[in-house]
Amino acid sequence: MKMISPVVTTRPRMIRTLNHLCFRGFQTSAAGRHQVERLGVIGAGQMGFGIAYVAAMRARVPVLLIDNSAESLAKAGKFLKKLSEKDVAKGKMTGEQAEELRGMIEMTDEFSRVGQCDFVIEAVPEIASLKQQIFAELAMSTAADATLATNTSSISITKIAAAAKGREDRVVATHFMNPVPVQRGVEIIRGLQTSDATVERAEALVKAMGKLASVSEDRAGFLANRVLIPYINEAILCLENGTGTRDGIDSIMVNGCAMPMGPLALADFIGLDTCLSIMNVLFEETQDSKYRASALLRRMVEAGWLGKKTGRGFYDYSS
Ligand SMILES: NC(=O)c1ccc[n+]([C@@H]2O[C@H](COP(=O)([O-])OP(=O)(O)OC[C@H]3O[C@@H](n4cnc5c(N)ncnc54)[C@H](O)[C@@H]3O)[C@@H](O)[C@H]2O)c1
Repeated sequence: MKMISPVVTTRPRMIRTLNHLCFRGFQTSAAGRHQVERLGVIGAGQMGFGIAYVAAMRARVPVLLIDNSAESLAKAGKFLKKLSEKDVAKGKMTGEQAEELRGMIEMTDEFSRVGQCDFVIEAVPEIASLKQQIFAELAMSTAADATLATNTSSISITKIAAAAKGREDRVVATHFMNPVPVQRGVEIIRGLQTSDATVERAEALVKAMGKLASVSEDRAGFLANRVLIPYINEAILCLENGTGTRDGIDSIMVNGCAMPMGPLALADFIGLDTCLSIMNVLFEETQDSKYRASALLRRMVEAGWLGKKTGRGFYDYSS
């Protein structure tokens, strides 16, 4: 019997679906009853910027984008201009709407201004102590009824919530996927302390942003990364032990297994530091050796070869 490659049959449908999701464009009225007056996003990196952009564009929520790095803010500012101009060129919005959209995203390095926001999403690097410190500060700096969300990929929500003293029930995870304007699914994860009202408010905002929420349990890696990151780590192990070359590994997974991109290219896209942090959380929590990070992944992070964001990972992005 002749095998038909699933890539041939699923790809056009997948691309059509992605196009449909990406090209819905600028909303003229807020969809959904999320009731968020102002969204604070902490961390203007690839995830924080994407969340801010989609919240303004789709949910029509004004955003305060906070980062402690002048370089990250400058990069986000340039990207906002570039992406909105690209969306105008693609017909997703008019020039006027693009200008309005840019006006809806304010950028600052003043953390204390987070008190102006009634819903906050944290998107700083995947370091537990950093996130705990930020949630401790958020508990002191925001209104009592503000929702405090984290975009963590793997760290326990219960642990992060415990740092938000007196506001533990208001903490939830809204785990957006990368790139945020494209990926529709968002994992909502509740900690032991999270209230139903907090989960409902998070779901409403995610829905207004045109995303599809699904609830996962607070276990290491939740659902998406419990499956995805060990797969990427296994691909790195195959490179490390010589089972295949970089191009051979990525090619067979794309052309033989219907993956939209190869695992090594995907690792570069996610960020190798993020991949390593998630493997470490999986290993620490389960103590299962199947989650041990590959030595090559560790060495590349030590070298500062973090993938696309630093210009070098498994591929070279310097040009
Ligand atoms: N990259 C992905 O594919 C992906 C997907 C889903 C979830 N996540 C999660 O999202 C979070 C952010 O990841 P990313 O890829 O956007 O990281 P990133 O490195 O691109 O961006 C992090 C940003 O946080 C800023 N920052 C650091 N400390 C700060 C502080 N104290 N106050 C304010 N800003 C601070 C940095 O300057 C940087 O701009 C992580 O928890 C990650 O695990 C990442």
